[in-house]
Amino acid sequence: MTASSARPAIVYASVHHGNTAKLAAILAAELSADLFTAEEAAGFDGRARELVGIGSGIYFGRHHRSLLRLVDHWEHPPRTLFIFSTAGLPILRCWQHAALRRRLRRKGCRVVDEFSCRGWDTVGPLWLMGGINRRHPDGADLERLRQFVRRLPRS
Ligand SMILES: Cc1cc2nc3c(=O)[nH]c(=O)nc-3n(C[C@H](O)[C@H](O)[C@H](O)COP(=O)(O)O)c2cc1C
Repeated sequence: MTASSARPAIVYASVHHGNTAKLAAILAAELSADLFTAEEAAGFDGRARELVGIGSGIYFGRHHRSLLRLVDHWEHPPRTLFIFSTAGLPILRCWQHAALRRRLRRKGCRVVDEFSCRGWDTVGPLWLMGGINRRHPDGADLERLRQFVRRLPRS
């Protein structure tokens, strides 16, 4: 990993159905960003990056533990970030992003915007009925994501 790269970067985890991986791929393409899993980003030097997006599915009301752990141990965090997620209930975004947002702010990072959309969810008994949010993220979700990217502040 190059310490000096100024390119944007996307750091993500996607462990349930690959829902968030779809967002991460679009973000990387739209921003011409480098794409890292949380594991690949260990030791990541974000200081020179103009913008970093960090996200995952939501599991029990928070982002994936690999992302929370990464931020807790981030020696050189990026200055400017945005948060993204897919979730069974994205309407709870403000609350479900809080654990990650709090950690980032504690590290002195500026969180400039946040995005969440529906993701196919078959956790627990939902599996019996085929889950909720089948086929999400869908084309409309991904178009909203592209519009979100266009509104992001760039330094
Ligand atoms: C173990 C588990 C716990 C979950 N907890 C929540 C939750 O608290 N709130 C929510 O909105 N969605 C919850 N979900 C749904 C996931 O956030 C959703 O399916 C997401 O799109 C998964 O992303 P991924 O496929 O990238 O891993 C949960 C899913 C799993 C498997």
